[in-house]
Amino acid sequence: MEQLIDQNTYFSHHNPYHEKLKSFDDFVLRDEEGEAFRGNWSKNAFKNQGPLVLEIGSGYGHFMMDFCSHYPEINFVGMDYKFKRSFQLAQKLEKLERKNFFFLRANGARVDRLFSESELDQVFYFFPDPWPKNKHKKKRLFQKNFLKQVHSVLKPQGKFFIKTDHSDYAEWMKALLLECPFFQIETVSFDIRQEHPEHFLSSFQTKFEKIFLKKDIPIKGFELTCLKEGP
Ligand SMILES: C[S@@+](CC[C@H](N)C(=O)[O-])C[C@H]1O[C@@H](n2cnc3c(N)ncnc32)[C@H](O)[C@@H]1O
Repeated sequence: MEQLIDQNTYFSHHNPYHEKLKSFDDFVLRDEEGEAFRGNWSKNAFKNQGPLVLEIGSGYGHFMMDFCSHYPEINFVGMDYKFKRSFQLAQKLEKLERKNFFFLRANGARVDRLFSESELDQVFYFFPDPWPKNKHKKKRLFQKNFLKQVHSVLKPQGKFFIKTDHSDYAEWMKALLLECPFFQIETVSFDIRQEHPEHFLSSFQTKFEKIFLKKDIPIKGFELTCLKEGP
């Protein structure tokens, strides 16, 4: 029965990397383990009041590692749901001396179980799987409910940064954003590097971005501000 249930949402995993990730338990949290910090990441996990940011889909962690070393004062939570990739990233993260991060082996569809209302300063979401076939589009993470969750966990005026190589996914995102009143669109570009070379989103290349740039694929970028009443 357990094997019939989606391994990304069910907690009793048969994937061997789930167990292996336990050896990094000073900075890796698996599934519901991260939920224990919900509402108290600054106080109980990082034990400081620095800004709190989340990256969904950290992949091989190039952005995460660069960002953490450039901004030691920022508390960074990386996240990916692939087991082996998470394990490989954990091996690299372990070697870093300064641990201004945690890593979640968890699903981005559970963001509001991991963070409480207005807990995050920024959310990063770079090169998400585009699920290009029509019959698979429902698997895209970027859906109304996901937007609602990101809106809920971001502070008023908190930022949501997105990059994708995929034109159809970018159009999909733009249409949803125009439909949902959760974010102000500060920047939307279908070629961010050409149109906004000074923008934060043009200032770094993730691992997947390098591959797309080599193929001359324009990078699409969004900078969004969370529209919410302040306290
Ligand atoms: C195309 S890769 C991009 C990785 C990295 N952001 C980069 O730009 O190099 C997409 C990553 O998102 C992860 N991912 C996809 N859907 C996810 C979800 N629902 N929750 C967490 N991670 C997810 C995948 O496992 C994969 O590592």
